[in-house]
Amino acid sequence: MSGRAADQGEGTRAVRAGLPEAVKNEPTLPGPAFAAHFHLPGEVDGPYTYGRDTNPSWSLLERAIGELEAPGQDGVETLVFASGMAAVSAVLFSQLRAGDTVVLPSDGYQVLPLIRAQLEAYGIEVRTAPTGGDAQLDVLDGGRLLWIESPSNPGLDVCDIRRLVEAAHARGALVAVDNTLATPLGQRPLELGADFSVASGTKQLTGHGDVLLGYVTGREGEAMDAVRRWRKIVGAIAGPMEAWLAHRSIATLQMRVDRQNATALVLAEALRKRPEVTGLRYPGLPDDPSHKIASQQMRRYGCVVSFTLPTHTRADRFLDALRIVDDATSFGGVRSTAERRRRWGGDDVPEGFIRFSVGAEDPEDLVADVLRALEESAD
Ligand SMILES: Cc1ncc(COP(=O)(O)O)c(C=O)c1O
Repeated sequence: MSGRAADQGEGTRAVRAGLPEAVKNEPTLPGPAFAAHFHLPGEVDGPYTYGRDTNPSWSLLERAIGELEAPGQDGVETLVFASGMAAVSAVLFSQLRAGDTVVLPSDGYQVLPLIRAQLEAYGIEVRTAPTGGDAQLDVLDGGRLLWIESPSNPGLDVCDIRRLVEAAHARGALVAVDNTLATPLGQRPLELGADFSVASGTKQLTGHGDVLLGYVTGREGEAMDAVRRWRKIVGAIAGPMEAWLAHRSIATLQMRVDRQNATALVLAEALRKRPEVTGLRYPGLPDDPSHKIASQQMRRYGCVVSFTLPTHTRADRFLDALRIVDDATSFGGVRSTAERRRRWGGDDVPEGFIRFSVGAEDPEDLVADVLRALEESAD
């Protein structure tokens, strides 16, 4: 990306991210390149050879994500994957060997315990500690890789990424940050010193609840070469259509993020006045335990608000009473979703814990719907 583009505002960069040079009579964003193979006479060279290794629609999307994750930074590359989990697994399984130690968050995305079991089956030692209070610092010694999820999903704790990175690097460990919840407009892990920013693009990055996608952004070199090799051998690749849809969605990323995150704060402020709501968390609330460090390292606080209703049944009745909020998992979409997180069984949260993903509805409509549903679901 040119120096000029790095100086532009985030909205400008988002709408233009990854676009090719203007060519007369060509579209602004070329359509999906549906190709399993490419013409390849003679030697195997050039950018596009076989569709599991490279694709022009990935290249444009990878450039777009890189421009947002690491604006103005040279020597950074991005690789897209079929899903967030494909990207997460690509980093963990390409970097770790039998006998290595990895530090995971104990309160991260609920598939991490499955990852843990798989890593242990391969002879990798897994240590865990909570995100809050930078507790992962206490278990870093001898680690080969530190995995951070900040803000954590669904508890919304935040750790001091720069502090953890410095401690990990001093011990010779690499650091990956799951940037799903923040998005690159909320937080730029590479600027905070991390080696990898890894994310599910399924969430707010694409924002319409219709695409599964993942990516890894990292500095060029051995570690990213290994991630690329992993993608080739496992083959968990993004479809060209998904890559193109994601790229198209990034054009509206700043508008969506600003709207959704602003409404998340409004909703959190409305919820804090309700007597039946406990454990309210939103890093953007000035008195949230995460706020101080979040305000230092994040530029936006995300669209997810979490809180607890008194019982399992109260939470179910509340979700049922909502009219413009879908009872569905995932988060980050333009249509608000909420769910009782314990129904999955994975997270260590109370039965009445609600993870609420704020969409792009009018804030007053959303708050009115939530307050009405709280009233209607009362005992
Ligand atoms: C923080 C976080 N990381 C990774 C993932 C995995 O992403 P995907 O569902 O795209 O595989 C999720 C999915 O919810 C997530 O919330």
